[in-house]
Amino acid sequence: MTEKQKWFEEARYGLFIHWGLYSALGGQWKDTKLTRNTEWIMRQAEIPFEEYRKLADSFDPVCFDADAWVRKAVDFGCRYLCITAKHHDGFAMFDSAVSDYSIMHTPFGRDIVRELSDACRRHGIKFCVYYSQMQDWADPDGDGNYWDYDPAKKDFEAYFNNKVKPQVRELLTKYGEIGMIWFDTPYHMPRELCRELERFVHSIQPDCLINGRIGYGFGDYRQMSDNEIPSAVYHGLWETPMTLNNTWGYSKTDECWKSPEKVIRMLVDVVSKGGNLLINIGPDAAGRIPQGSVDVLDRVGAWLHKNGESIYGTVPCADSPYQLRWGGLTGRGTTAYLHLLDAAETPDRIKLCNIETRALRARLLSTGEELPAAQTYELARDEHRLIIHYPQDRLDELDTVIAVEFEEAPVFRSLYMNFEDQGGAAATARPVENKKTSGNAAEGYAE
Ligand code: GLC
Repeated sequence: MTEKQKWFEEARYGLFIHWGLYSALGGQWKDTKLTRNTEWIMRQAEIPFEEYRKLADSFDPVCFDADAWVRKAVDFGCRYLCITAKHHDGFAMFDSAVSDYSIMHTPFGRDIVRELSDACRRHGIKFCVYYSQMQDWADPDGDGNYWDYDPAKKDFEAYFNNKVKPQVRELLTKYGEIGMIWFDTPYHMPRELCRELERFVHSIQPDCLINGRIGYGFGDYRQMSDNEIPSAVYHGLWETPMTLNNTWGYSKTDECWKSPEKVIRMLVDVVSKGGNLLINIGPDAAGRIPQGSVDVLDRVGAWLHKNGESIYGTVPCADSPYQLRWGGLTGRGTTAYLHLLDAAETPDRIKLCNIETRALRARLLSTGEELPAAQTYELARDEHRLIIHYPQDRLDELDTVIAVEFEEAPVFRSLYMNFEDQGGAAATARPVENKKTSGNAAEGYAE
């Protein structure tokens, strides 16, 4: 891992913001009503560019307050923020000398990227930009608009040289340090241009991370499919972008918000497999973040403010050979964080099987309270167990985290039995060295 990648692994949880002219339509145009990807309304309804661009004449998000948004991102527990500087519709949410099709040519006339980047810096979170490098439905040479412009006449290289590179340069030179540039839908972009773009970004800001959707395996980290979480630990840097309802851009009708429980479950799942979760919000055209998403993310944030130690900067804990019926595991060094997501699965105690490493103490992360724990090894079944009793009256309904400190980085024993090196040792049971133990270590054998 290089120095420049460290912040990304440390951050683990970011806020994606899809905001642009499409937000004014909220997924509806004449007879077209989108239930997902409302930011695609121009293409789905094949709105002529000359008509769509009129949205800029009334785009005036009077409620937009960069400082309030970034404070909210901090409340949500997000450690980076990524704004759609230019989405597929081609409209720049920043002051661009390359094209008049920008926020500066609206009644609002203020540079959104500037205000957000300044606010992120003030509040100490990484500022990142999304930039649609291949699709541009406003540019005759950009990809994707086949209803206004004849595909046979498109000169993609001209678009790449005259719009993409100059605008990417603007983004990387006018707004200070950019944590990451988030490209999307490389589709039919030629491989050489993907590589050229990667080099171009790094020639201007060598420390700016590039996501995998620059194409052809270039970039600094693997971008997972939208809303998809790998089924196992994935080594190397990666990120899953996730909608909070069923769309990225604002929707007038979609109130299907994921619950705070669900978001935390996904966050634990992603982090326990070594990745980052980029959770999305889609503000409306007035610059308001939908209340439904604020309500959910506020609760996730409150949980993170108490339990963030178990998420930020953690890595996959040693792989448990058993499925964890009660939840998930994250880790850092010699500490494992046990996320109790399903208390009903195992009322009053957590059992961790096959953990070989000696546990020193267990504590409730939110309060620091030490918990009674016992560790056993039974030779006949070649079975290690760590049993931790947790207080049922102090459960967090979202996720109760128990931090277990081990003598060294925890290791699980595989399920393959191997008696050869045991030397005939008898079964042993010992309390974990907590001050207050259950006093009955042998109960680890009870099941
Ligand atoms: C898809 C969509 C795009 C959205 C992105 C988020 O690639 O094309 O609208 O911005 O996913 O991951």
